[in-house]
Amino acid sequence: MHAIKVIIRVTEMREHSKRMRGLGKTIAFVPTMGALHEAHLALIKEGRKLGDDLVVSIFANPSQFSPEEDFESYPRNFDKDLKLLQKKGVDVIFSPNEDELYQDGFQTYVELENLPNHLCGISRPIFFRGVATVVTKLFNIVRPHIAIFGGKDYQQLAVIRRMVRDLNFDIKIVGFPTVREPDGLAMSSRNSYLTPEQRINAVCLYKSLKQSQELVESGIKDAKRIIDAAYALIKSHPETAIDYIAICDPETLADMETIDRPALMALAVNVGKTRLIDNMIL
Ligand code: PAJ
Repeated sequence: MHAIKVIIRVTEMREHSKRMRGLGKTIAFVPTMGALHEAHLALIKEGRKLGDDLVVSIFANPSQFSPEEDFESYPRNFDKDLKLLQKKGVDVIFSPNEDELYQDGFQTYVELENLPNHLCGISRPIFFRGVATVVTKLFNIVRPHIAIFGGKDYQQLAVIRRMVRDLNFDIKIVGFPTVREPDGLAMSSRNSYLTPEQRINAVCLYKSLKQSQELVESGIKDAKRIIDAAYALIKSHPETAIDYIAICDPETLADMETIDRPALMALAVNVGKTRLIDNMIL
């Protein structure tokens, strides 16, 4: 089987990258929080194509969870992840401990001014600061040429792209389309929290996006009408509580009233206690 290297220390990760860069290898990087599923593996497959050396990080990042969120219970299964990554021909798993990345006295964060003031940033006020900070740290440690992020987390991808431009990271960001279950539910580590009944109802996020796309295709351009119809569809499913449904500019994420150009429809819905997100370009 393919020899995979598990690196825990920052210094060792740096040495590996330095060696690979010295050999003229292209380093591709897929950051994750573990509990890997098919969508992660699709990003990793893409990374395998794009890089000579493929690094996957597994780090459940505490700074992107608020105290009332699921950091403690977030699914973790390193042994299973390791086996999956071995099969996919990954070269390095970078899996630091919490205190390797956040040492005593840590106080420096990367914060964006506008993008986090929309969509998920409203109900998760420290989330994008945590993501931007940890991704910056990982970029500085792994020093990839290319990094791959999923389009399911559209706002996260937008934040990373903006940050890379604003801070002059010499890294190519590749966005990968949302990977779905056969019924359309976007894959997520959090889907494992759903009861069988909730799992069936969770498809309402995708259904509401498809319905919205059909409404736009039928000529309806009024964003409010489409959002109202999505609310109605989701509310007809038990155990759902809508955080937001928005139709917005795909670049700035500012709300759009009329769909007279490509628009992003994004939503976050709690199914039982599980917060799910999805999006589609209309
Ligand atoms: P995590 O949720 O583990 O996701 C890791 C990567 O997989 C992200 O780029 C995410 O967008 C992508 N991904 C997850 N589900 C997907 C799906 N159904 N289709 C396509 N891509 C999908 O996102 C994070 O971790 C963290 O915030 C991280 C970037 C690692 C920073 O801590």
